[in-house]
Amino acid sequence: MATSRTPSTNWSNVAYLFVTDDREYLLDPGERFESDLGILEVPEDVAPGDVVETHLGTAFTVRRLRGPDLFTHLERTGAPMMPRDVGLVVGKTGVAAGDRVLDAGTGTGILSAYMGRMGADVVTYEIDADFADVARANMGIAGVADAVDVRTGDVTEDLDELSGFDVVTLDTEDAPTVVERAPTLLGRGGSLAVYSPFVENTREVVATAEAVGLQGIETLDTIQREMDFDDRGSRPSTGGVGHTGYLTFARRP
Ligand SMILES: C[S@@+](CC[C@H](N)C(=O)[O-])C[C@H]1O[C@@H](n2cnc3c(N)ncnc32)[C@H](O)[C@@H]1O
Repeated sequence: MATSRTPSTNWSNVAYLFVTDDREYLLDPGERFESDLGILEVPEDVAPGDVVETHLGTAFTVRRLRGPDLFTHLERTGAPMMPRDVGLVVGKTGVAAGDRVLDAGTGTGILSAYMGRMGADVVTYEIDADFADVARANMGIAGVADAVDVRTGDVTEDLDELSGFDVVTLDTEDAPTVVERAPTLLGRGGSLAVYSPFVENTREVVATAEAVGLQGIETLDTIQREMDFDDRGSRPSTGGVGHTGYLTFARRP
C-alpha cells in the first residue's frame, strides 16, 4: 500500500527530447545517435534548453518531456489513454497532489504517469509481466518512478488488501469486478473513473456502480472534433477518429 509523500518529480536519469524542425528523438545522456542528419554524441551533462549539433552541423534543441510527449514517445503495450481522455479523468475526479490513487491496468502507463507527474501517489496493477516491465521503464522516462508503484498482477486478486483511495481509475475489461468493491476501495467522497471501449461493458459498469450505492454516476461518450483552418475556410477535420470510448464517473457518498 502506498504511503503519503511530498509531490516531486525525479528528473535524474531521464531521457530528453532532441528536436530539430519536424523531427524529434528520445535520447539518454551519453547516448550516441546516428541518422541521415549525422552523428549526435549526447553529452553526459546535457540539460533542457541546450542546443547540441551532429557532426554534420544539424542543431537539436534539448527539451524535457511533457505529458503529450509521453503519449508519443513512451514504448507502447496496452492501448494508451489519449491525452484528451486523461484530461477528462483529471477534471472529473479532481485528482491532485497528495492523493492516493489505485489504477488498473497499467498498460503503457500514460494515465499513471500523468497522475504521478501531478503529484499523486499511484499504485497501478498490470497483469502481463512483460507489459509491467515496460511500464516501469516508462515511469523512469516520465520522471515518476518514485511516485508510481507498478505492481505485476491481477488487480482483482488483491482487492482484499486495497482500501481508502482518493481516486480509482480502471481501464480493463473486468472493471465491473473492481467497481463492485468500490465502497471499500474508495474513501468517503472518493472518485471512480472507468474507461470502456464498448457500450456493453459500460452498461455493466454503470449497473454495478448503482448496485453498490455509488452516487453521481455519469457516463460520457468521448468524442472530439479537431478543427482545420486554411485559406478556403474553417471546418471540423474530416480525418482522424472522433470517438475513443466511454468514461464513467461516480463517487462514494
Ligand atoms: C487499455 S490498457 C490500459 C492503458 C492505460 N490506461 C494507459 O493509459 O496507458 C489495459 C491494460 O490492462 C491490463 N489488464 C487487464 N486486466 C487486468 C487485471 N485484471 N489486472 C491488471 N491488469 C489488467 C492489460 O494487460 C492491459 O495492459
